Amino acid sequence: MKKVSLTGDRPTGPLHIGHLFGSILSRRELEDKYESLVMAADIQALTDNYEHPEKVRENVYEVIADNIAVGLNPNKTTFFIQSQIPQIAELTVLYSNLVTVNTLKRNPTVKAEIAQKSDLFGHKGESVTYGFLGYPISQAADITFCRASIVPVGEEQLPMIEQTREIIGKFHRLYNCDIFPRPEAKLSQAPRILGLDGNAKMSKSLNNAIYLKDTPEETIEKIKTAKTDSELRPVYDPEKRPEISNLVLIYGLLNNLGPKEAGNEVKNLNYSQFKTKLAEDLNKYLEPIRQKRAELKLVQLKEILESGRKNALKKAEETMSFVREAMKIDY
Ligand code: TRP
Repeated sequence: MKKVSLTGDRPTGPLHIGHLFGSILSRRELEDKYESLVMAADIQALTDNYEHPEKVRENVYEVIADNIAVGLNPNKTTFFIQSQIPQIAELTVLYSNLVTVNTLKRNPTVKAEIAQKSDLFGHKGESVTYGFLGYPISQAADITFCRASIVPVGEEQLPMIEQTREIIGKFHRLYNCDIFPRPEAKLSQAPRILGLDGNAKMSKSLNNAIYLKDTPEETIEKIKTAKTDSELRPVYDPEKRPEISNLVLIYGLLNNLGPKEAGNEVKNLNYSQFKTKLAEDLNKYLEPIRQKRAELKLVQLKEILESGRKNALKKAEETMSFVREAMKIDY
């Protein structure tokens, strides 16, 4: 039997080129080697968007369309919606006994997000909800309900995978069983793309992203106004000149060049010439993706998600029978 690969996207907005190079492209490589599942993590998205459920709902279809447009094959990959697999919620409750509140508070990714969302969770995180603080547990449930061995993600997700391993270890020890494989992250060649403003993360909430579904004109405009520095020529020197280095990195990814090579290739251009070339190359690269995306119909997406739901449910029930037995709740 093939090993399982699972990953998820929070449906809070359409996907951007950070997702593309950070994660989606590596999903394509896994499709043939693993039994692959890709989930729209709507429950996780609600942990910090519970005031705006309509936004989450709309974006479920957007992120699935993005994944398919990039070239994932719905006949090979199972696409599904997190909330349609109630066993994930059930596992979250069962695992929550195995994780301390202090461990959750120390999770570096959660910590950074709480600091970023001070309007929602308070300036010192004093109003953080139980649900948000606990989302790494729910993510462990995502990864384990289908007994995944491999999780293609960006590097900021590593603490979640570590947390999942800890839960699995404790579960196996306490309940004297061996149900789950030890999940490993699969990082792609470019795990982190900065925002166009130089922020450490390209993200919808920071308004510093280029979306797969942006028009060519929007893309040109965004590249034009992307932050650089007061030097004249592009270079790859991420320590000293992070913003321009990020653009050089993107240029390299588009042209199959390592970042240093990419820097070398464009070192004689001025910033404006470089940005024009970068925007052109980016538009060329995104053109087939945009075209495919425009052709996808909502009914098609719904069909894909319905057959994905059935597949995922089968796996979930199988796992639950082992888990219930191990925890002695198999009445
Ligand atoms: N936390 C991930 C993100 O913000 C999304 C996600 C939810 C996920 N569940 C997952 C990723 C399970 C990998 C595996 O991008």
